[in-house]
Amino acid sequence: MISQETIQQILSKIDIVDIVGGFVKLKKRGTNYLGLCPFHNEKSPSFTVSPVKEIYKCFGCGRSGNSISFLMEHEKYSYVETLRWLANKYNIEIEETEASPEQKVQQQVAESLFIINNFAQKYFSDIIFNNEEGQDVGLSYLKERGFREDIIKKFQIGYCLEQRDAFSKAALSNQYNPEYLQKSGLAVMRDEKLVDNYRGRIIFPVHNQTGKIIGFGARIIKTNDRAPKYINTPENELYVKSKILYGSYFARQAIDKSDECLLVEGYTDVVSLHQAGIENVVASGGTSLTIDQLRLIKKYTSNLTIIYDGDSAGVKAALRGLDMALEEGLNVKLVLIPDKEDPDSYVNKIGAVAFREFVASNKKDFILFQLEVSLKEAGSDSTKKASVVNQVAETIAKMNKVEDFTKQQDYIQQCSEMLGIDEAGLHTLVNKFIREKISKEESKASQKNGENKDTSSQQPANATDLSDETFNILFQDELQERAVVRVLLTYGIKQWDDHKTIADYIFEDEMDEEMFKNKKVAEVLKIYKDKYEEGQKLSVSDFAYSEDNEIVKLVIESTNHPYEVSHRWNDEDRAHSINHSIWDLKYEDFKSKVLYNENSRNEIYSYNTDDNYKDDVDGVLIYLKLKKIKRLILLNEEDLKKASSTMDEIKHYQEVHMHLKQMQIELAKRKGTILYPF
Ligand code: UTP
Ligand code: MN
Repeated sequence: MISQETIQQILSKIDIVDIVGGFVKLKKRGTNYLGLCPFHNEKSPSFTVSPVKEIYKCFGCGRSGNSISFLMEHEKYSYVETLRWLANKYNIEIEETEASPEQKVQQQVAESLFIINNFAQKYFSDIIFNNEEGQDVGLSYLKERGFREDIIKKFQIGYCLEQRDAFSKAALSNQYNPEYLQKSGLAVMRDEKLVDNYRGRIIFPVHNQTGKIIGFGARIIKTNDRAPKYINTPENELYVKSKILYGSYFARQAIDKSDECLLVEGYTDVVSLHQAGIENVVASGGTSLTIDQLRLIKKYTSNLTIIYDGDSAGVKAALRGLDMALEEGLNVKLVLIPDKEDPDSYVNKIGAVAFREFVASNKKDFILFQLEVSLKEAGSDSTKKASVVNQVAETIAKMNKVEDFTKQQDYIQQCSEMLGIDEAGLHTLVNKFIREKISKEESKASQKNGENKDTSSQQPANATDLSDETFNILFQDELQERAVVRVLLTYGIKQWDDHKTIADYIFEDEMDEEMFKNKKVAEVLKIYKDKYEEGQKLSVSDFAYSEDNEIVKLVIESTNHPYEVSHRWNDEDRAHSINHSIWDLKYEDFKSKVLYNENSRNEIYSYNTDDNYKDDVDGVLIYLKLKKIKRLILLNEEDLKKASSTMDEIKHYQEVHMHLKQMQIELAKRKGTILYPF
């Protein structure tokens, strides 16, 4: 663990222009700097760096962050790796805090395994190029398959001799620990002696994101029915199969540049495609994708193209992971390689140019592909077809990221066409699945909260006003939640009136976490509130160096809208504000009409700092209030269900319900007149 003092020292030295400028050519424009965005391909610069705010933001692709998140995104470093890189750059000595005894052991084992793997890689590479058997068996095998020496060197591919223990002996004579040699999978114990585990095999080192070797895949050369084709490193402190994508270290920059990740099954597929100049490629190792692997891909790009051979079991496995990929917000495409070839053999057969063309023109949308396959299977069986329709609707409903909204609409249109059903009908069905998903999540959340133990009283979603509901679910919540962060951090310490600040005003209505779908928003508000109660006033920059990168992103993105509030607010509007103290909500009056105008997109830091910030705040708070009312309605309905006793009691609940509904309608009407800047 790097000590807090060291981190502070590093942070105090950071100069964002210097750091980003090391990777991007920047030109001064006013108080900011401008350059070509390193995260997407562009011809005219829309990547801005603000030395004052210590942040960057691209208006083309929307990426933003601080020096640390820049290094994390651009270089794919972890947080700790970034700190080490910065410490090295600024000549700061790193002070480590005491790790726990277990952490120490874990670190020490990991470190030892790294050292052993490094030694082994050098040893196996030396054998393949300089040893007679290595050249005659290993190197000539690879060359026959068409691999060039430069690519063999780049991927550090090696060969393990057929002798019983040539490697083990070399390792032991270099003082490597027998226990760790076994843990690394490089050697195994036979009759109390260490023997080599990968005898007579080609060795593919597996690298982590920073290029260190975490394990190996060892391919047999002589066909032997009894031995497995590949032996892989056993799970250990370094090698965690579910988190590994072979080739990701060599692919990271190409993936970033092309904004696409190609996924193949095997080691040789990755190496061959690299050799052909196609470098944005990683391999899954033939098993179905895990959530960790999907997230790793998502760190680099949202576009995943799976390239498998047509009849591989891998396609089925990948199809099973499709829903997971959608939930992660990935666009998944599929390319099937024909004629029992795999990407390696196919690129060797038809050449790099033709292969690229083949991939480009044979990309199938994964959802549509799945639909095509299931439709074929269903044939003319109408029951089966109905279940296909359901399945498709459920899949489409899984896209739940804000940015997926339009995509979802496109799918509904395309799939309804393929299915030969009414588009509006499919729309309704998708909405049904979304509502089911949400009510499941909500009941899970409230159960966690100990509120709603009785699942039979689960709230059925209201069937009216579907499209509005869906729109809220898909789009507005996230943006409006971010707006709460924005107004709090931007205006929190300003006065609301003589007695309270904006922060007081926002916090005066209890805000429970359940109100926010985006839990990071709730977290930011809570951090702010806790500090506020201790007398501290936080601002954007206090969050900009949070260790939690999601928080950094959230805060920066939320507070850098290229929009501002217009001045169209008048007393007449104020007069419309509702007084609803009778419903025992502590709200004061709030506002009706806040209009936002799109501001010049180039002026990123222009904020509405003059007096009408109150209007801005109120517009945002209407949303919070609506959410709160909705929760109160639900709670009241719960109570009503339980209240079987007296007529009076029931009547009371009904009255409360009417009041709340009335309020909701009023507010919703007002909300309807607000054009949110989203
Ligand atoms: P393949 O059988 O397609 O092998 O397995 P390959 O990568 O194309 O290798 P070549 O071209 O025949 O030499 C795909 C991947 O599945 C994993 C490996 O990661 C392999 O690259 N695999 C396969 C194993 O882990 N163990 C095995 O026994 C077989
Ligand atoms: Mn192959």
